Amino acid sequence: VHAVVIREGELVWEEHPDPVAGDTELLVEVKAAGINGADLMQRRGGYPAPAGSPADIPGLELAGEVVAVGRQVTRYRPGDRVMAVVGGGGQATMATVDEWHALPVPDGIRWPEAGGFSEVFWTAYDALFTQCRLASGERVLVTGAAGGVGIAGVQLAAATGAEVVASVRSPALHAAVAELGAGEVIEPGEVTGRGPFDVVLELVGAASFPDAVAELRTGGRAVVIGVGSGAKVELDLLHLMGRRASICGSTLRRRSRPEKSVVAASVTGHVLPLLASGQVRVPVHATVPMTDATAGYEQFAAGGKLGKIVLMA
Ligand SMILES: NC(=O)c1ccc[n+]([C@@H]2O[C@H](COP(=O)([O-])OP(=O)(O)OC[C@H]3O[C@@H](n4cnc5c(N)ncnc54)[C@H](OP(=O)(O)O)[C@@H]3O)[C@@H](O)[C@H]2O)c1
Repeated sequence: VHAVVIREGELVWEEHPDPVAGDTELLVEVKAAGINGADLMQRRGGYPAPAGSPADIPGLELAGEVVAVGRQVTRYRPGDRVMAVVGGGGQATMATVDEWHALPVPDGIRWPEAGGFSEVFWTAYDALFTQCRLASGERVLVTGAAGGVGIAGVQLAAATGAEVVASVRSPALHAAVAELGAGEVIEPGEVTGRGPFDVVLELVGAASFPDAVAELRTGGRAVVIGVGSGAKVELDLLHLMGRRASICGSTLRRRSRPEKSVVAASVTGHVLPLLASGQVRVPVHATVPMTDATAGYEQFAAGGKLGKIVLMA
């Protein structure tokens, strides 16, 4: 197998020992694997892979064709098209995937979209609906809304009948985010006075969160998913008390196998039909050959993109 390997902070394309599918795993010939912020952090040495995942191959999501299955696998067989969240190791020509963390790729969805779907749609679904209990008719603010998790959050919230306000830094992307279902698209500095919000999906962190929390409605819920702009903030706790508001944070990668399976089941039930019908889609800003992962990571870091950058095997 060939893989993107992190070696002293650089990404090199090289041979790696073949992965072996465990009893409940699929061996997948990877076609496409999305890039995420976590990969860039891992490359810098800041976000080691969880136990059981390759330590030196990045990649939290992939799509590809099943080539072999473990002894206890019942849900898939060789030839099936799957897309999955993995603890790491997705950016390689072959990877192993837990059968419960793999979803079938709907007909009509191409490899780049499938490869960029899993991490961001699982994360956005879990944050909005499981953590924040977003309901139809509620008003939600998505910050950093043009990125991978943002485009998923905007579409899922809109699809459920929520009113979506999206904050987007790049003016060039405002129209595209509105097209995905945001009723209002604003600059990050324009959040004050735009509430009240029942739910805040915070994808930017310190630069954005205090203003967003101040706009929560009574009973409002905020979930912190990304802290790229910093993790330390000053908050008015009286304000939280007065509004009976709640704040939570969440990560996906370190969850246990059963916990991830629960998210996968929710996404299978609630998001896969929307993807299959075209009601939600995966905007792919660029595809880059996996052999040139460094260029893909540079594009990701440069920002200004709508949705995903996906490496193609
Ligand atoms: N907790 C979890 O389980 C989990 C899962 C997935 C991702 N994440 C994290 O969640 C965050 C979002 O992920 P993603 O995949 O959507 O990343 P992404 O595709 O890079 O999107 C981030 C978005 O935030 C914007 N942004 C960044 N800094 C900003 C600032 N200071 N002010 C205003 N906007 C800013 C970016 O705008 P520009 O393009 O203009 O830079 C971009 O549109 C990342 O920090 C990621 O690591 C967490």
